[in-house]
Amino acid sequence: MALKDDFKKIRHEYGKTQLLESEINTNPFIQFSSWLQHAIDKNIADANAMTLATCSLTGKPSARIVLLKKYDDQGFCFFTNYDSRKGIELKSNAYAAIVFFWPELERQIRIEGKVEKLPSNVSDKYFLERPLGSRIAASVSPQSKAIENRDYLNKIIRDFKSQTNKQIKRPVFWGGYRIIPELFEFWQGRENRLNDRIEYYLEKNEWKTRRLAP
Ligand SMILES: Cc1cc2nc3c(=O)[nH]c(=O)nc-3n(C[C@H](O)[C@H](O)[C@H](O)COP(=O)(O)O)c2cc1C
Repeated sequence: MALKDDFKKIRHEYGKTQLLESEINTNPFIQFSSWLQHAIDKNIADANAMTLATCSLTGKPSARIVLLKKYDDQGFCFFTNYDSRKGIELKSNAYAAIVFFWPELERQIRIEGKVEKLPSNVSDKYFLERPLGSRIAASVSPQSKAIENRDYLNKIIRDFKSQTNKQIKRPVFWGGYRIIPELFEFWQGRENRLNDRIEYYLEKNEWKTRRLAP
């Protein structure tokens, strides 16, 4: 196949706003909160969707989108199948990176840190809040494993429904993770690709900031 490179039509010039040291909050969690809230207020679709990158023991990275479901000053939480590819990678290498991108706002946030499983009572509570269909899907789907065809999914859901009473408990292989940040970067697109990048890093347990070159 010939190399395709005709992307000139989708070149986008940034420059809606700026990110200045004088305007940011010294606490990166508060800065995150204000950007996420702004994205939600602007009705950005799936504003809580983030790319999650994990890495195998042999150093091979993999990435996929998951939804941010909870966060506080301890970290950023998502829910998944612990036996999935990401789950297996996190078991052997408990570090991850997440990236939010809100094109309409010309903003990106990168967060990196150590990952831990959420306490089981937190996962139980969240699981029970999910709609019935999602609870069933989480209970039966062998996430990331090869399956024969779509019918196989229909069959395991039918079987599950016929064997299970209404109260569906969280399966042990499904639950939440928390990413405990060690690094944040807030990125605001600017004119001529001279973008603003402010990084927060930890020094003696205190958050410091520095500007990065675009
Ligand atoms: C918008 C969006 C949201 C998603 N949210 C989740 C999620 O919260 N948890 C999850 O396990 N998978 C979610 N997925 C599916 C994942 O991208 C992925 O297919 C799945 O987790 C399997 O990944 P793995 O094989 O790398 O473990 C989402 C996909 C999209 C496109």
